[in-house]
Amino acid sequence: MMDAQVPSDWRDQRIAYVEHGRFGRIGAIVIDSLTLGPALGGCRMWRYERFDDALLDARRLSRGMSYKNAMAGLPLGGGKSVLLRPEQEADRAGYFDAFAEAVDALGGRYLAAEDVGTAVTDMQRVRRKTPYVFGVPSAEGLAGGDPSPWTARGVFSSISAVAARIGKPLGTLSVAVQGLGHVGMSLCQLLFDEGVELMVADINPAALTHAERHFRAKAMPAVSIHAADVDIFAPCALGAVLNENTIPQIRARAVVGAANNQLATDRDGSLLMERGILYAPDYIVNAGGVINVAGEYLNETPAMVGRKVEEIGERLLHVLDRAEEMRIPANVAADLMAREILLSRAQSAQIAAG
Ligand code: NAI
Repeated sequence: MMDAQVPSDWRDQRIAYVEHGRFGRIGAIVIDSLTLGPALGGCRMWRYERFDDALLDARRLSRGMSYKNAMAGLPLGGGKSVLLRPEQEADRAGYFDAFAEAVDALGGRYLAAEDVGTAVTDMQRVRRKTPYVFGVPSAEGLAGGDPSPWTARGVFSSISAVAARIGKPLGTLSVAVQGLGHVGMSLCQLLFDEGVELMVADINPAALTHAERHFRAKAMPAVSIHAADVDIFAPCALGAVLNENTIPQIRARAVVGAANNQLATDRDGSLLMERGILYAPDYIVNAGGVINVAGEYLNETPAMVGRKVEEIGERLLHVLDRAEEMRIPANVAADLMAREILLSRAQSAQIAAG
């Protein structure tokens, strides 16, 4: 990939390639920042048209992880890896063996975990060849395993903080949840327990029926849930749901959800601000999962992870305050605050090194 194609502040990123004996170059690991600690970020397996597209994705996502980990208060840097999806699933194990070798060769500078297209079982395979992989079942009493319930708790903490900010007690709040998967369904349970009125949408009818039965939720069509007449819209399904088509239709006062990359473009953060809709930056809100994965690396107990996840709402309010003070979109404020953390740590390290 020509360096001219990428932003100049990506040029310090370190890239290691994943080579497979038979299939050649099948993936890449990108380390964006080691300023706060080893670079933690998931391994994505996806079908890309060209290898360069995969690499570009990994570079962009690894920067996102540096910001996310910094803003989650973790002693971890940012990284990400991508693997080209094999043509035949039969090759899958071999792909993860090659990946494990590449991870191990980095000697702990990159810490892997699952992501879109990879599963706990894949990471268990990786663990056979390297200790630098997390998101695998851990010993009794220690953090680990499925991150989704923790992600849901972080979203709940964020929604509670935003509800207080807009002066709505939880018992009088209405929330539209888009996507009733691992995170969305757990979130519905937490909100229902506090008396929140729920509207829900999913393309899976069984999930809708479950939410209707167990949380007295009102089902809405998937195409119009973003326009529900509620206090808070919680995207918990796909990325890019906040775009020039949906934003003018949003009736909620705030958007607070788990989905990654909710803004289709940075400009959409400004569009939300212009409409007076409070946007809770996705990577602040959905950090519960990575806090749990980090807890596994740091040998924490679930109670320690829980305390950190509870702090997400408070951290979100700091970001919203900063955005308001500076009259900038909240997504821009979050990136700015993350860069400040990284810069201040890099400067202290320089001073300490004399
Ligand atoms: P999931 O795959 O378990 O659930 C997604 C749900 O969205 C499914 O029920 C699916 O049927 C539904 N869906 C798909 N298209 C839809 C549409 N057009 N309208 C309505 N519903 C639709 O995923 P999970 O784990 O619950 O994650 C949800 C989001 O949160 C994703 O964007 C993910 O990247 C993000 N996230 C998840 C974390 C986790 O710990 N699982 C951590 C951080 C972010």
